[in-house]
Amino acid sequence: MGRALIDAWRRDGILQIAMAPRQQEVYERAQEASREFFAKPPALKAACVDSQSYAGYIASGEEITDGVADYSEIFTVTKDLPLDDPRVVNKWPCHGPCPWPDHGMRNSMKQYMEYLGESGEKLLRLTEYGLGVPEGSLTRLTQDGWHHLRVLRFPQRNKTNGKGKDGRGIGSHTDYGLLVIAAQDDIGGLFVRPQYDHEKFANWQKSSAGLHEDDDRWVYVPPQPGVFTVFPGDIMQYMTNSYLPSTPHKVGLNRRERYAFAYFHEPSFQAVARPLPGYEAGQKPHEGIHYGTHFTNMFLRNYPERITTQRMLAEDRYQKLAEPALRTMRSESVSEAINSQASVPMGARL
Ligand SMILES: [Fe+2]
Repeated sequence: MGRALIDAWRRDGILQIAMAPRQQEVYERAQEASREFFAKPPALKAACVDSQSYAGYIASGEEITDGVADYSEIFTVTKDLPLDDPRVVNKWPCHGPCPWPDHGMRNSMKQYMEYLGESGEKLLRLTEYGLGVPEGSLTRLTQDGWHHLRVLRFPQRNKTNGKGKDGRGIGSHTDYGLLVIAAQDDIGGLFVRPQYDHEKFANWQKSSAGLHEDDDRWVYVPPQPGVFTVFPGDIMQYMTNSYLPSTPHKVGLNRRERYAFAYFHEPSFQAVARPLPGYEAGQKPHEGIHYGTHFTNMFLRNYPERITTQRMLAEDRYQKLAEPALRTMRSESVSEAINSQASVPMGARL
């Protein structure tokens, strides 16, 4: 199954998994909470912002991809930390509370994320088998993972606020971490573009936003009830030396509004990802990718005007990313740890 998973990603850029019945219930409850939230008055939604975390509301037209406004309306959930959490007290970038509108939304989304957290771990274990790398090579990174969720609403085409290009939901881009687990309602809009052999991109070096936005190689992902769509992110691409490229995707608008979720199964904020055993080919950066820095860079790029960005710059928080306390997890210690346990067999190398 692990091998089939890898083959599907390499061929199509995505794969789909069926929701378990309990997951379907939790998904439907989250959908209801999402619809309730987006139906609230604009001022109420706009108040769901936090100056320390990027969690909370993003109005239609506020997000920027490749310099152009997106019409998506978003509620982002990041690790929900109280103000007295030491990481918040010590002003770690992007760390803070999630500004929930109410308990109902909080409970529905937390439950949804918990279920997807379990699925994410299973998928990573299968990915390890499929890649032939030692068990734990990927899942060790996701202990205390910086998993986050984007609750999305896309307005009906021609019912937008008139900014930017006509009819754009979200411009083409890749996502940041290990895995994306997406779900959409019965209205389509997601497009993916599997990487072609001669193409090389690395979103952590040069933005892949807007890449091939208008060429004819985009594949429409039809809505299918009861499935999650799964694809790799930037850190997976780096760790596998592009054997599993981060899948470019974009969202178009449709004749009706649509609701979707994107859950990101991520390394710990403190993790430094290194190439996996058997996939080291001198890929840059040689020192590895610090996930917290990559995440912070991406949000600074997408939300230049947000209060969180302004506060981070004003308080010089970005410098903290270089501190040892924020870099406590290094993935190369995985193979060292596993090698030291003779009873754990090494996976086959590719
Ligand atoms: Fe995305």
